[in-house]
Amino acid sequence: MAPVLPSFVTKVNTKPIGVFDSGIGGLTVVHALTQRLPHENIVYFGDTARVPYGPKSPQVVREYAAQDVDFLISKDVKLIVIACNTVSAVALDIVQKRAKVPVVGVIHPGAKAATEATKKKRVGIIGTIATVNSNAYTNAIRQLNAGVQVFAQPCPLFVPLAEEGWTDHKVTELVAKEYLFPLKLEKIDTLILGCTHYPLLSGAIRGVMDSNVKLIDSGEATAEEVERMLDEKGLRNPSKHKPRLQFYVSDLPAKFMEIGERFLGQKLGRVHRAEGF
Ligand code: DGL
Repeated sequence: MAPVLPSFVTKVNTKPIGVFDSGIGGLTVVHALTQRLPHENIVYFGDTARVPYGPKSPQVVREYAAQDVDFLISKDVKLIVIACNTVSAVALDIVQKRAKVPVVGVIHPGAKAATEATKKKRVGIIGTIATVNSNAYTNAIRQLNAGVQVFAQPCPLFVPLAEEGWTDHKVTELVAKEYLFPLKLEKIDTLILGCTHYPLLSGAIRGVMDSNVKLIDSGEATAEEVERMLDEKGLRNPSKHKPRLQFYVSDLPAKFMEIGERFLGQKLGRVHRAEGF
């Protein structure tokens, strides 16, 4: 028989996890969360009216992040996941300051997984321009192990290619070759997919990098960290029912609904327009 929990425990525990991103890409992180934590309720917010964040200045991304997190707080979430690498790289402190609940970004879990995976101590990072310019991954890896050499490369065109669904296309192959060649020359043995969209292009990325290069999906590493944090804080949902997944966006939901399924790996259901954006 399942243990009977005090009512105050279940009340907090059944609250949703809040996840936000600049747009649609964060659904890859929701996918990783649903795989690892199949009974957690989730509220997702995608800032589809203002995406992409990657080419924008840190100041602007910080302003947007503050509004995004306030929206999730209004949904009474028990923990916040910053699915967006760009926000995690430049605005983690702002989100932590505003949220009264635990916050997990994608940078530290991805950096940790890469540091543990590399044997040659040579790690590559690919991400948006803002993520790469912030040096957030590099700094996180150096803090974990100062002996690891890090090589970073922005790959901005990967975002529209993934959204277009050109995962298996000659144009994507060419773009991948152009972006990844410098990393190949550096003989890295581990590569962090430091952007929500890149797991969808792992086939094209694999096609360029040597087969022994380990690809690190920051979303998966983050889901592991979320599980650890829920257990540490006693916040896991004890329910064994199918969870409630709710989706909010700041622009009209049509495009999000059209391409979201590919990112989430399952049907989306209803998508709501968020108030106040
Ligand atoms: N979600 C962003 C990231 O992971 C990619 C899309 C954008 O540039 O907003 O960095």
